[in-house]
Amino acid sequence: MAQIAARMKPLLVPVIYGSVRTARQGIKAARFVLHELQRRGIDATLIDPLEKQFPLLDRMYKEFPKGTAPAVMEELADLFRRADGFAIVSGEYNNGIPPALKNLLDHFLEEYFWRPAAIACYSGGRWGGVRAAMQLRMTLAEMGMVTIPSLLPTANVGEVFTDDGTPTDPKMQQYSAEFFNEFIWYMEALRERRQSGVPY
Ligand SMILES: Cc1cc2nc3c(=O)[nH]c(=O)nc-3n(C[C@H](O)[C@H](O)[C@H](O)COP(=O)(O)O)c2cc1C
Repeated sequence: MAQIAARMKPLLVPVIYGSVRTARQGIKAARFVLHELQRRGIDATLIDPLEKQFPLLDRMYKEFPKGTAPAVMEELADLFRRADGFAIVSGEYNNGIPPALKNLLDHFLEEYFWRPAAIACYSGGRWGGVRAAMQLRMTLAEMGMVTIPSLLPTANVGEVFTDDGTPTDPKMQQYSAEFFNEFIWYMEALRERRQSGVPY
């Protein structure tokens, strides 16, 4: 009975974005991902390190005695523990993972375990951030997340969305359907498996 109730609860997904630049463009891709998840009935929340004023890493969340971590870390730890999957929206800085994204991710560990991650990568150039996405797969695996096979790469990120994340090419929703459907499949599969326990 508890399993059926859990399955009926909407999937919960933090959409983690990692740029704090004044002139940032990837926020448009993050809003697109957020809206596509919400359109599919998913309880998705945008995690914006700029809005959260997320600190540079000093102590990981788990290094704080219970109840003493900064409020923003408590809030994210609670959300991440309840999450069914993580949507990671990553740019590419010098072929690698943007520092604000890595910094936010590094604050947590066990909170991510046994859940899938889907990578939506982007760049201002033609390659859509895929080099950073490949590095992210390594990092997310170390953090206990299973990355889904599909990526959602976006080239020329500044030009292909309006500020609110609406794609200028209406076919974008069609192109991205496989990515979102795959992510949902993995979240449902792993949610069901977590109901009967995790290895540790
Ligand atoms: C420090 C830095 C390094 C960058 N390196 C790359 C790169 O390696 N490959 C690429 O395609 N674009 C690169 N760019 C361009 C970014 O893809 C583009 O500025 C993008 O909008 C950055 O994401 P953001 O606006 O969300 O911060 C770089 C930008 C910055 C600021």
